[in-house]
Amino acid sequence: MAAPDATPGPLSPLAADELPQVAAIESLVFPEPLSLEDLRRLWRDPATAYVGFRVGDRLGAYFGFQTFGPTAHVVSNATHPDFRRQGLGARVLQEAEPLARGRGARWFLGEVRVSNAAQRRVLARIGWSEVGTCPAFFGNGEDAIVVWRCLP
Ligand SMILES: CC(C)(COP(=O)(O)OP(=O)(O)OC[C@H]1O[C@@H](n2cnc3c(N)ncnc32)[C@H](O)[C@@H]1OP(=O)(O)O)[C@@H](O)C(=O)NCCC(=O)NCCS
Repeated sequence: MAAPDATPGPLSPLAADELPQVAAIESLVFPEPLSLEDLRRLWRDPATAYVGFRVGDRLGAYFGFQTFGPTAHVVSNATHPDFRRQGLGARVLQEAEPLARGRGARWFLGEVRVSNAAQRRVLARIGWSEVGTCPAFFGNGEDAIVVWRCLP
């Protein structure tokens, strides 16, 4: 097992057999996680892309999005708690931009919990804008900040 401070490999598409690691991180970090079944269903959809950084044999951070015309809609992104604050959260989003562009997207669009200070700071640092608020967007009634990034 890789040490948490081991150097991550390059960003690359996730393989189907890495989805259990995505599901495990989802259930660790999200109040409303995607199940392995949800992830496998998304995976089969050609609109979906999942990319990630491995640290040794572990998934350090991942990002899933779906492209519909000019919009690349964020499904989710997360960094495993063992690998936080090493830049992976910002990098996984930034380094996926050429992939989204190559799939025809012109912007990323996502929804972030109002309370998610870490993600909001990361996004502000890498050029995403908060474009509005959607009341009671999440299952527990929390508002979403709608976030947008024009792809270069
Ligand atoms: C948000 C998240 C992806 C950031 O991952 P990361 O790999 O730690 O991100 P980075 O290392 O690029 O940036 C970390 C920055 O987040 C911010 N941050 C981290 N913890 C924070 C906290 N508790 N409060 C406020 N800001 C915080 C800081 O700006 C920090 O930068 P710093 O380390 O220079 O201070 C990670 O915290 C995570 O997986 N959270 C749970 C899943 C999630 O919320 N995903 C987004 C769904 S919309």
